[in-house]
Amino acid sequence: MTEISQSEKLLARRKICVADGVGVFNTVTVKEAKGALITDVDGKEFIDFAGGIGVVNAGHCPEPVVKAIQEQAAKYIHTSFNVVTYEPYIALCEQLAEILPHGDHTKSMLVSMGAEAVENAIKIARQATKRQAVLCYTSAYHGRTMMAMTLTSKINYKINCGPFAPEVYRLPFPNYYRYADGDTLEEYTIQELKRLRESGLNLVDPKNLAAIIIELIQGEGGFNVAPQKYMEGLRAFCDKHGIMLIFDEVQSGFGRTGKWASWQNYGVVPDISTYAKSLGSGMPIGAVVGKADVMDAALPGTIGGTFIGNPLSCVAALATIQFIKDNNLNERANEIGEIIRNRFLELQKHHSEIGDVRGIGAMIGVEFIKENDPTHPNKALCTAIIERCAQNGLILLNAGNYKNVIRILCPLVITDQQLIQGLDIIEEALLHYKNMGRLQPVETQPSF
Ligand SMILES: Cc1ncc(COP(=O)(O)O)c(C=O)c1O
Repeated sequence: MTEISQSEKLLARRKICVADGVGVFNTVTVKEAKGALITDVDGKEFIDFAGGIGVVNAGHCPEPVVKAIQEQAAKYIHTSFNVVTYEPYIALCEQLAEILPHGDHTKSMLVSMGAEAVENAIKIARQATKRQAVLCYTSAYHGRTMMAMTLTSKINYKINCGPFAPEVYRLPFPNYYRYADGDTLEEYTIQELKRLRESGLNLVDPKNLAAIIIELIQGEGGFNVAPQKYMEGLRAFCDKHGIMLIFDEVQSGFGRTGKWASWQNYGVVPDISTYAKSLGSGMPIGAVVGKADVMDAALPGTIGGTFIGNPLSCVAALATIQFIKDNNLNERANEIGEIIRNRFLELQKHHSEIGDVRGIGAMIGVEFIKENDPTHPNKALCTAIIERCAQNGLILLNAGNYKNVIRILCPLVITDQQLIQGLDIIEEALLHYKNMGRLQPVETQPSF
């Protein structure tokens, strides 16, 4: 009789007491995690290419972050920033203004997570413009609270959760790879900007639009990268009509794309932007950052909350930012991205199933297709590769409407040797399934 592992026991307990709707990507458990490695409850080691869904860009448990949390916990854990003022909140807002300037004067509000940042960004934009409508995009993911879920595109995340918030309109995301249909990037972008302008005639009056919210590189949507000229055109459209441009940087922020925010790669400045995930190295914290006059348009009482900018999370975020600076993790993201991109571009030459390799910095997605056709997603191959990787010691995530994209969100402290080992595991899995000549039927994974 085979012995039941500690991991299996834990997963069995999970099944009994945790709601099924709290999905899970794979069956790996954790006892401890450090840097880019996770050790499960049976002592097996995994290389982490998921980073807790893009949360540990600075690695698991960076020492200065752990120390800052411990020291702060001994002083005070919670007083609520809505009740008394504490220094770490102020220091973090000062840091955010310095590294993410939104013009001459930048202000911030701190929250606890990405969806909450999005909710507040919309409330602030509405108050700043005294308008109601919001424009968002297909394949967008903005979170699971009610406005964030309304803005989120994928149906799977929303089944039977409505009614959703009113006055939300949606345009196709400018996904060149999937929808170009033979056009050059320039032709395609011109077309999509025309669609944006026409939306003022056939979708929503721009005079009623408070905000347009976009991920410059879509996270859950499949690491789709908005074209540079599209973003410039979007900025011009917002300026022309007095619309607040909101960049959702929850997944792409804090080093992932080689900058503090992906918009810094474009040189297009938002009115408001949202952050969470890697800001706090795993402590729950989010931020809404924006032009001071826009941020100040929100009336006292309309934004806030008991746990906003919890002191432990603030010191964790301050230590994380310092750690990213001290270890040049923004530059390291570009090196990591190069290694990943080159490996997959090489594989693509021999394997037509790899339809696209894309991204900025270390935010790299690899899209699997069938029959050389970008409109034929290969979910089965992608799922099988991820499952085999987990068996072979690599934690990996999918993305995209069809779950046919591998997205790499490894900690930026990963060593070259760990990175290459992880890529070797993916390559082995790809070859394994190719050599089998066909794919076994794969059970559908629940979403996370
Ligand atoms: C772009 C983006 N916005 C918002 C969110 C929601 O963040 P949270 O899960 O912290 O609420 C996510 C989460 O994946 C995200 O990727």
